[in-house]
Amino acid sequence: AGQTTVEVLGHSYQRDDFTNVTPKILAKVGRNLHNQSHHPLWLIKERIKSHFYSVYTCRGNPVFSVHDNLSPVVTVEQNFDSLLIPPDHPSRKQGDNYYLNRKTMLRAHTSAHQRELVRCGLDAFLVAGDVYRRDEIDASHYPVFHQMEGVRLFSNHQLFQKVENSQDLSLFEAGGQRTPHKQESHSLEAVKLLEFDLKRTLTHLVTHLFGADVEVRWVDCHFPFTHPSFEMEVRFQGDWMEVLGCGVMEQELLNSAGAGRQVGWAFGLGLERLAMVLYSIPDIRLFWSQDQRFLQQFQVQDIQQPVRFQQPLSKYPPLHNDISFWLPGDSFIENDFYELVRSIGGDLVEKVSLVDKFKHPKTGRWSHCYRISYRHMERTLSQQEARLVHRQIEDAAEAQLGVQGRY
Ligand code: PHE
Repeated sequence: AGQTTVEVLGHSYQRDDFTNVTPKILAKVGRNLHNQSHHPLWLIKERIKSHFYSVYTCRGNPVFSVHDNLSPVVTVEQNFDSLLIPPDHPSRKQGDNYYLNRKTMLRAHTSAHQRELVRCGLDAFLVAGDVYRRDEIDASHYPVFHQMEGVRLFSNHQLFQKVENSQDLSLFEAGGQRTPHKQESHSLEAVKLLEFDLKRTLTHLVTHLFGADVEVRWVDCHFPFTHPSFEMEVRFQGDWMEVLGCGVMEQELLNSAGAGRQVGWAFGLGLERLAMVLYSIPDIRLFWSQDQRFLQQFQVQDIQQPVRFQQPLSKYPPLHNDISFWLPGDSFIENDFYELVRSIGGDLVEKVSLVDKFKHPKTGRWSHCYRISYRHMERTLSQQEARLVHRQIEDAAEAQLGVQGRY
């Protein structure tokens, strides 16, 4: 506290009323797990790269270029405005993002780079990088994770070249309407070919990663920067798991990036999600482990060699401690509490869940009860150690969030 600037990757950013990055999060910036040789995220990234390099070539040259070293510090304009995300959109909330100040933030998705790369003249690229979101805490959510973005643009000739007698087809149609299937300026035939190419590309990718029997399904969804939009889910241990979002790029985005004569598709996939399924990694915090017993298992000679992750030691038992408090009026943000738990408990916290809400019949005040599960990744935690951390969380919640403990 009292500092007027935040230092990230050798640059100084002026603090203001939007600043909400914490030292614990800043300590992760620059780790670049996706660039650390033989880290499981690196391994997945390399397998995706090699798939795209070998399948999509033009006269022997790769069609897609790969960018895995773009700074995670982006402008709010790049992260949101460049993607047509409206000024009042809920995804901009301070409660969901890490802001350095009103103008700068840690990117919340690799889509933040779409417009600048298209503007540079690229028409097929992959971007891998670390992304930052304030979120709940559990086995598959961590405030820093990694994404791979893919974009491919097509000219009229490129999209229709395989269609016979295609000279009468065009990408655009004047005076068209936006429908659930297409944007106003697009022709239906262009969109159908794009959608087909997008889904085929992604299905081919996951079959390459998971093998031919992988089960995939498509779910319609919504993003401000694609239309139509889809999510791909992969069946994993009996449940459907969302692994990526994608769609036909909004033409207005391409127009503003100087590519108005082309159409395109984009996707963004979560590397941890894929790695968890592929290597059976049970907890997302393991990706941050420096323990050689974990990392060693990914030291394969050949990136295509199968890896099956073996839990290095039996999973140590968790300890549960509850915390209840009265909320301060209506100014309480749940993610602020998760953040506080994380900044004190660090990686000892496996999960935080809201187990009870209660409204006092007379005072009308709300009380929340959260259950915090503590678990050490590499040894058994004593109840005494957990209590110590829990006590610090209780004190900090009262001091920083204005709640009134019922401890
Ligand atoms: N950026 C989106 C997300 O993080 C994913 C996405 C990328 C969707 C590209 C459409 C196109 O959820």
